[in-house]
Order: sequence, then structure tokens, then C-alpha cells
Amino acid sequence: MAEPDGKLSGKVAIVTGAGRGVGKATALKLAREGASVVVNDLDVAEARATVAEITNSQGQAFGCVGSVTESEFPEHLVQTSLEAFGQIDIIVNNAGYIWNGAAHNHSDEQWQAMLDVHVSAPFRILRAFSRWLRPTAKQEIAEQGRAVCRKVVNISSVSGTQGSATQVAYSAGKAAVVGLTRTLAKEWGRYNVTVNCVAFGHIDTRLTQAYEQVPPAIEVGGREFKVGLSNAQLEGVRRSTALGRAGQPEDGAGAIYLFCIPESNFITGEVLTCSGGI
Ligand SMILES: NC(=O)c1ccc[n+]([C@@H]2O[C@H](COP(=O)([O-])OP(=O)(O)OC[C@H]3O[C@@H](n4cnc5c(N)ncnc54)[C@H](O)[C@@H]3O)[C@@H](O)[C@H]2O)c1
Repeated sequence: MAEPDGKLSGKVAIVTGAGRGVGKATALKLAREGASVVVNDLDVAEARATVAEITNSQGQAFGCVGSVTESEFPEHLVQTSLEAFGQIDIIVNNAGYIWNGAAHNHSDEQWQAMLDVHVSAPFRILRAFSRWLRPTAKQEIAEQGRAVCRKVVNISSVSGTQGSATQVAYSAGKAAVVGLTRTLAKEWGRYNVTVNCVAFGHIDTRLTQAYEQVPPAIEVGGREFKVGLSNAQLEGVRRSTALGRAGQPEDGAGAIYLFCIPESNFITGEVLTCSGGI
């Protein structure tokens, strides 16, 4: 049930990749705290289901279906969000997937696909956002002395911050998004935008299923990718975390939420590891 006086009442949030996993849990959490949520995903049915879950609980949401890697889509996402809700206060750049393999087997296409979704798409979405942000914030500063505090949360991974065998392209994209985060934190401080990053360890979603049970492959944009971990790998992940378990999507959403609330208004350019103490 959406809280009428939640911490994010009156705020508008865009969450990419909100049809499943961490993105879905984040969209639901932000909506419960009062935000109106623009739900993006590639997959129509999943995006619709997230929107329905929010609106059935008296929350506000609408779906903006499409791939964040399509060149025109970032502009479309920002424009349709502004048309629907008139403002943007929070952007969570979460959409992503993995395309693993040994470095020597990575194709150029694989390398580029990982950079496209994990760093180029967040950049293009934020660049599109800046076209509305800069004049809006300047006007707020002229009228009230300070712009409204807005929030960007980008999603990285311990693969990006620590490296991970078989993920050379993915980890390069997830490392690059940290540089994007810290640079925009510096550029947009003057507009009172906090730009932070959450780097996940192992979160239990379709990307990290045990493939002994069901050999999992996911479809992204009409193409199949092998995902998942062996039971031995899953056990290793559990053993290597202080909390001894994988995170749930709600754990991931909780970390993102910390950067969306007013209590974090003086925190910017940071990378928060959400890994259960890896
Ligand atoms: N699950 C983990 O252990 C883990 C660890 C580190 C980082 N991450 C990151 O967390 C984020 C969320 O992943 P998840 O585990 O919830 O995965 P998930 O597969 O459950 O959800 C990701 C969603 O993003 C969507 N998506 C993928 N490409 C898209 C595109 N081009 N445009 C729009 N939507 C797109 C998918 O359709 C899917 O619904 C990703 O950026 C991922 O790299 C996950």
C-alpha cells in the first residue's frame, strides 16, 4: 500500500529494468514510499505487471517499455516521464544483464553490448535528463536560492569494483559506471543532484539461478544468454559473505532507497557495496 505521507511523497522516479529482480523491488519500494514511478523494461508483460502491482496498491505508475540501448530511447524515456508527471526527482539506472565468457573468447559484439547497457545507456539517459535539469535547477536557484535535491543511483557490481573471471566486458562496464557516477557528482553538485552508485554482490535474481535445477538462459531483445551458477559456485558465494547468504531483490532495493531519501542529501559520488559483507 502506498504511504500518503511516505518519505518520497510528491517525488517522481524513473527505474530502468523494473520488470524483474532488483529493479522491480526498487519500483515497488519507491512507490510504497509515495513516489510516482516510471517503470521501464524491455519486456512488456513484466513492465505491465510491475505497473499493475503499484496501481493496485493505490500507488502511481506508468510503463515506458523499450530498450535503454536504443539510440532514441533515453530521450523518449525522459520526455514521456515529464509529460506524465511534470518533473523527475530520482533516476535509478538499473537495467542490465550478463554475457559471460573467458576474455579470449569475448567477441567485439559481446564487449560492446556490455558497455552499451551498463554505461552508455545510463550516460545517455542522464544526458537527456540534463536538458531538463539544468534550466529547471537554475530557475529554482534564482527563485529560492537552492535547487530541489534530486537523486541519481547507478548500479555497479563487485565484478566492476573487484574484477570477476569470465566477466571482462561486464566488469569493464560496471567499473566505467563508477567513473560516470563520480564525474556527474562533481558536475551536478551545483544543481543539488546527488549521484551515487550501488555495487551489488550476489543478489538472488534470474541472473544468478542455480543451473543444476533448471539450465537457465535468459532472453534479452530476442537473443538468449546463458546465466546462472553451479550449486558449488552458489555455496562458495554464500561462504564468502559475512552474512552467509545471497541477497534478495528487496535487499538490493533497500540499498538503492538509502540514496533516494532526504537523509542522504549530503552524500554524493559514493559507491555503496551491497553484498552481505563479501
Ligand atoms: N543479481 C546479481 O547478483 C547482480 C550483481 C551485481 C549487479 N547486478 C546488476 O543489478 C541490475 C539488476 O539486475 P537483476 O539481477 O535484478 O537482473 P534481472 O534480470 O532480474 O532484471 C533486470 C531487468 O533489466 C531488464 N533489461 C535488460 N536489458 C535491458 C534493456 N536494454 N532495456 C531495458 N531493460 C532491460 C530485463 O528485461 C530485466 O527485467 C543489473 O544492472 C545487474 O547487472 C546484479
